[in-house]
Amino acid sequence: MPVCQLYWVDYIWWLILFDLLQVSATEECVGPMRLTREPIQVLLVFAKEDNQSDAFWWACDRAGFRCNISRTPESAVECFLDKHHEIIVIDGRHSRYFEAEAVCRLIRATKPSEKTVILAVVPQMPPDQDEPSVLPLLCAGFSRRFVENSSVSACYNELLQLEHGEVRCQFKLRNGKAFTMPGRNQETAYSSM
Ligand SMILES: *[C@@H]1O[C@H](CO)[C@@H](O)[C@H](O)[C@H]1NC(C)=O
Ligand SMILES: *[C@@H]1O[C@H](CO)[C@@H](O)[C@H](O)[C@H]1NC(C)=O
Ligand SMILES: *[C@@H]1O[C@H](CO)[C@@H](O)[C@H](O)[C@H]1NC(C)=O
Repeated sequence: MPVCQLYWVDYIWWLILFDLLQVSATEECVGPMRLTREPIQVLLVFAKEDNQSDAFWWACDRAGFRCNISRTPESAVECFLDKHHEIIVIDGRHSRYFEAEAVCRLIRATKPSEKTVILAVVPQMPPDQDEPSVLPLLCAGFSRRFVENSSVSACYNELLQLEHGEVRCQFKLRNGKAFTMPGRNQETAYSSM
């Protein structure tokens, strides 16, 4: 067999091995990967503390995520630029203190928000009313919406679904064919490259 053909076979084997390793590294739910990775960071934007913000707070605690809470759009942006949270939850149940869409646009205008999943908390509709379209929220930059529910379990499950769905998807998109999900420092290195 010519030498170049040998190399080719070798190369294919390496590709297969690489793919196998990659799948096990990024798809693993629990295991050594989780231990080496820094905890997910969550930013709650709620003008006032209530059952809903408390539920998300305790849900973060249960999931082992780090959590910050901001009361105003300005402090939310400031805190986000400092920590680059992977998940942001914005209260969109009433517009008395701020417009959730406006806050979302403010955050989306920043560079690090490319990697962030933003969740809108929307009010529960009375049974006789149809739910409004989610389109304006998506256009403002939200990733998903969560119908208000102050059960810690409901918030916990939502956060886990975000982590395993959207947040990982962002990791993969960002890092392409990487063996492991990088920690925060490497991440910064990637994004500044
Ligand atoms: C919110 O909490 C208050 C007490 O802090 C309670 O009376 C009320 O029923 C709770 N509301 C919901 C929807 O859980
Ligand atoms: C954000 O939360 C972390 C712990 O989760 C805490 O150490 C830090 O002081 C908080 N930052 C702000 C600005 O509240
Ligand atoms: C809130 O979540 C809990 C637990 O998932 C569920 O049992 C309950 O029906 C939900 N409440 C509303 C109003 O959707």
